[in-house]
Amino acid sequence: MKYITTRGWFLLLSASFLLCSHVVRVYTQKSEGALTVVENTDDKGGEGEVVAEDEEVVTVEDEDLEVVQPTEEWQTLKPGQTVPAGSHVRLNLQTGEREVRLGEEKLKYWTQEHRETDESKSSFNFDELKRAMKKMKEELNLESLASRFRPLEELKKDMAELDLLMETDVQILRRLLDQMNSTNTTTEQRLSILLELEYLVHQVDNAQTLCSMGGLPLILDGLNSSDFRLQESSAFVLGSALSTNPVVQVKAVENGALQTLLTTLATAESVSVKKKVLFALASLLRHFPFAQRHFVTHGGLQILSELFKADGGGVLRTRIVTMLYDMISEKELISQAGLDSVQDPSHEERVHQYSQVSLQGELLEKGWCSMVPQLLQSAEHDYREKALRALLAMAPVCLDQYRSNAALAGSLHSLRLQYQEIIQSEMILGEESGYFTELVELIDALQVKMQ
Ligand SMILES: *[C@@H]1O[C@H](CO)[C@@H](O)[C@H](O)[C@H]1NC(C)=O
Ligand SMILES: *[C@@H]1O[C@H](CO)[C@@H](O)[C@H](O)[C@H]1NC(C)=O
Ligand SMILES: *[C@@H]1O[C@H](CO)[C@@H](O)[C@H](O)[C@H]1NC(C)=O
Repeated sequence: MKYITTRGWFLLLSASFLLCSHVVRVYTQKSEGALTVVENTDDKGGEGEVVAEDEEVVTVEDEDLEVVQPTEEWQTLKPGQTVPAGSHVRLNLQTGEREVRLGEEKLKYWTQEHRETDESKSSFNFDELKRAMKKMKEELNLESLASRFRPLEELKKDMAELDLLMETDVQILRRLLDQMNSTNTTTEQRLSILLELEYLVHQVDNAQTLCSMGGLPLILDGLNSSDFRLQESSAFVLGSALSTNPVVQVKAVENGALQTLLTTLATAESVSVKKKVLFALASLLRHFPFAQRHFVTHGGLQILSELFKADGGGVLRTRIVTMLYDMISEKELISQAGLDSVQDPSHEERVHQYSQVSLQGELLEKGWCSMVPQLLQSAEHDYREKALRALLAMAPVCLDQYRSNAALAGSLHSLRLQYQEIIQSEMILGEESGYFTELVELIDALQVKMQ
């Protein structure tokens, strides 16, 4: 018998939801044909311009109107012309003309389709789900009107049948782990099992069930596999299961996950494996001072520093620096909270545990004060931002080294000039984002400390 997994169930529900929302749209379309004037909430519009948006201008009945196909550029609409539903129509009060372009959704969809080729396709994300739903919606739109109105009784019956066939998450986990544990299972099958597990363990309960069923040793075996695809997928499952899940964090440390992750990190050759292992490691260490202490005492920072030195591209460097920043600022926040927070025994224990993580001394010893500034030379604003934040967090330990680092002073100076120029041109174009102002503030703060 074929089972329908929760994921299938979810897609089915989404489909019926889209069906309903479409029916509602058919009705509103008929009752309100006119333009609705709304405040301009879109910052890209000019000052004082009033924008009229009408998502429901249509269509089939208005046969004597000429339909204009919008593009991504604004076009002026002549009297007697109309546009397809979902177009973005604005009324320019200065010229009195109506203008049209592709609706925001379509515009996003269009640009995403084009970007898709160079973006990593490795992980399933929310945008992909939205796109998949959009495709489904478009397919539904093509169906005949009759099929849109399936009798409710029929739908209910189908759903009741599905309900009986539904496998619970616990049953699915049991089945997947049994398959994983079987010597018969091929590598390809293991990869698809791991993919399903990764989906399931985002739910806190499922991740804990995976642990209580004895699944962790199986995942850790996968990390130690000689096939890099199995290593990558296993690290991904582990990282997702560990994310904001203290129960799993403790179980993982008990099962030796820290040691396995560090070994894999030191020996893996593929960058994609290292990326996922760093993800799992960061998830294991987050808000878990016990694991952080063992990470430091087991040479974790040494392994990270070798990884940092070997990484030319900057992707791994950024992740490493972000991890350091997170650990430093976590510790900082805990000790600050101690000054004014209520007396809470678990708080004192946490302060005590964090005090055992001797991060600062290690940062100084292992040369991080001179390594992190190198990330400023990256071409990515985002990487530089991470570097600046980490540099500020490390300042109490590293200040003397920063002061004697001429390259750092030079980088800060030239970045500041560059960002001020960007801010200037943004101001002229009227599209200030605030992001570059923030970067300049970080640079300023660092320069003040270094004086
Ligand atoms: C392995 O597969 C064979 C059939 O291909 C089956 O008879 C056997 O029970 C399987 N063994 C395990 C451990 O699943
Ligand atoms: C895997 O199989 C062994 C015996 O072959 C068993 O002891 C262990 O509990 C199984 N692990 C899981 C997660 O099912
Ligand atoms: C990982 O694999 C190596 C051999 O490839 C083995 O010696 C080692 O014990 C394994 N470690 C774990 C944790 O399974």
